[in-house]
Amino acid sequence: MSYSIAIDGPAGAGKSTIARQVAKRLGFIYVDTGAMYRAMALYLLRKGIAADDGERISEACKDADITIEYADGEQQVILNGENVNGSIRTEEVGNMASASAANKEVRIKLVELQRNMAAKKNVVMDGRDIGTYVLPEADLKIYLTASSAVRAERRHKELTEKGIECDFDAIERDIIDRDDRDMTREFAPLRQAEDAVLLDSSYMGIEEVIDSIMELFHGKKGE
Ligand code: CDP
Ligand code: CDP
Repeated sequence: MSYSIAIDGPAGAGKSTIARQVAKRLGFIYVDTGAMYRAMALYLLRKGIAADDGERISEACKDADITIEYADGEQQVILNGENVNGSIRTEEVGNMASASAANKEVRIKLVELQRNMAAKKNVVMDGRDIGTYVLPEADLKIYLTASSAVRAERRHKELTEKGIECDFDAIERDIIDRDDRDMTREFAPLRQAEDAVLLDSSYMGIEEVIDSIMELFHGKKGE
């Protein structure tokens, strides 16, 4: 039997930072489902397919082979044989991922990959619909959030530290738009699962969030 921890929440809540560390502490694998949506988005961008062109996206779903490998404990996304980890972290790919993730066929294709991974290994999986749709039987579900201002502040700091010039208001607007698209799409929208634990990290440090999740998980295992 394998264990699974689902971490969902809006953009910039700290999901990937926290999920990666929790996985490390537990010796589980970290599954970043956002990277899979980004790989699909990269494929669509390269083919010049628009996010709302349902017909061409259906075709693309058949042609885009997305698989996951691990190197030194880090997830590697392979798109038709090419490791695209280095190409999927751009704004352009992020925006396309957010738009094309509303497509049902894209979601069904990637959810199958995610479920297969969780069936074989102990996982900490983060995304938007993990607790509600991908792994409804997850051993622990976390809904990690923070105010949009705090999330924008974190993104702003991250970009500034990388030497990228950016405007705080534009970042906050982008975050709010993404949340809106994720929460209002028809198929598997972002929402807190009924049995998920809500963690608002607006005023919590990274270690504090990790410790809370570890405690919750050990508490669940002991039930
Ligand atoms: O994966 P998600 O978009 O939810 O967020 P992330 O990329 O893990 O986190 C965004 C930024 O917030 C990172 O720079 C984290 O270091 C930072 N962060 C933080 O400052 N305090 C927290 N409690 C959680 C994350
Ligand atoms: O940019 P950020 O780190 O917040 O997002 P990400 O986790 O890299 O995911 C990129 C986009 O994929 C998000 O904006 C979501 O719209 C979408 N996504 C999704 O719909 N469902 C998931 N399970 C994961 C990501």
